Amino acid sequence: DHPIGVAVLGMGNVGTEVVRIIQEQAQDLRQRVGAPLMLRGVAVRRADVDRGIDPALLTTDAHALVARDDVDLVVEVMGGIDPARALIGAALTAGKSVVTANKALLADYTGELAAAAEHSRADLYFEAAVAGAIPVVRPLIQSLSGDRVNRVVGIVNGTTNFILSAMDETGADYHATLAEATRLGYAEADPTADVEGFDAAAKAAILASLAFHTRVTAADVYREGISRITSEDLETAAALGCTVKLLAICERVPAGPGEPGSAQGGKDRISVRVYPALIPRKHPLSSVNGAFNAVVVEAENAGRLMFYGQGAGGAPTASAVMGDVVMAARNKFFGGRAPGESVYAELPIAPIGDTPTRYHV
Ligand code: NDP
Ligand code: HSE
Repeated sequence: DHPIGVAVLGMGNVGTEVVRIIQEQAQDLRQRVGAPLMLRGVAVRRADVDRGIDPALLTTDAHALVARDDVDLVVEVMGGIDPARALIGAALTAGKSVVTANKALLADYTGELAAAAEHSRADLYFEAAVAGAIPVVRPLIQSLSGDRVNRVVGIVNGTTNFILSAMDETGADYHATLAEATRLGYAEADPTADVEGFDAAAKAAILASLAFHTRVTAADVYREGISRITSEDLETAAALGCTVKLLAICERVPAGPGEPGSAQGGKDRISVRVYPALIPRKHPLSSVNGAFNAVVVEAENAGRLMFYGQGAGGAPTASAVMGDVVMAARNKFFGGRAPGESVYAELPIAPIGDTPTRYHV
């Protein structure tokens, strides 16, 4: 069998688990793909750290690794915009498949990256970028592509849900719980992204782009984080029979007579927003605790769907990454392509931007 050469960029919380799965489950993966996956190298910042793998696989020169002739597929799990953006761009331009978990990058640069993928007919997969292990990107792009999605609402950040759940259940201290989330590999390298809602906003932008076949960036998303939520707020919520969750809400707003949309030629608009919300205890989202996430999708014909599972952490996220790796590797072996730019073809829907209309559960 002709092997599929894989480069992994980053060996932190997620990359470590990706490398472990590639190595430990080599036989299973070979069977599922139809060819062996060969790990060609792993890019890191510090090559002198013992990471329990053959040191010859480690490199600090990610660009050279991506450019190698024997690399067919690049897994980007280093995070951040630079150099991830250039590395993914270079891989796609060279016709290599890319799997990434980088929601911050995708929220602002999916247009650029999808165009590069389209140009060289390369694959770009990103299931792990939204809600960790939970399959939600593929259902939106593929399973629901024959339906009309009207609303996506979810808890999409594990760190903040971990903090809010602990504060609610045991009155735990905000800062101590955030430190614990970092220790468990849930938080971003800079946890400000989590607690101020930037991470959830990036995921909301990705979900809205997929759900409504348009292009929403993080700047289009109204955003509030949880850093000002206090134990007293949670006690007040409890007295009202509620809990507090950081929600990401993506809604289609139909144009109607006298509505703003009609002034734009009668086009529907969309509203995308992230903020801590009061959730009644009887609502299914109120029982999503710890680093778990849940995403509710409402579509015209499917009705209401709910996706639930581990939203953060190395192994759960690596599961989603590896699903994409298998898909991309199969495409290399058997032919076939990831859904491309046509996913975002219906561009005229204009994001509403900063209109924090409340969500009624
Ligand atoms: P970490 O910070 O744990 O790991 C980052 C890795 O990338 C490290 O190994 C680091 O090297 C390496 N790295 C960073 N910059 C460079 C560079 N310029 N050149 C070479 N290597 C570099 O991050 P995570 O594993 O937690 O997250 C990775 C990505 O996955 C991010 O985009 C994140 O948003 C996303 N993600 C994370 C989830 C999670 O639960 N953790 C869930 C879903 C998505 P070194 O080890 O030497 O420092
Ligand atoms: N920091 C993110 C979270 C990782 O806590 O949800 C998963 O995307």
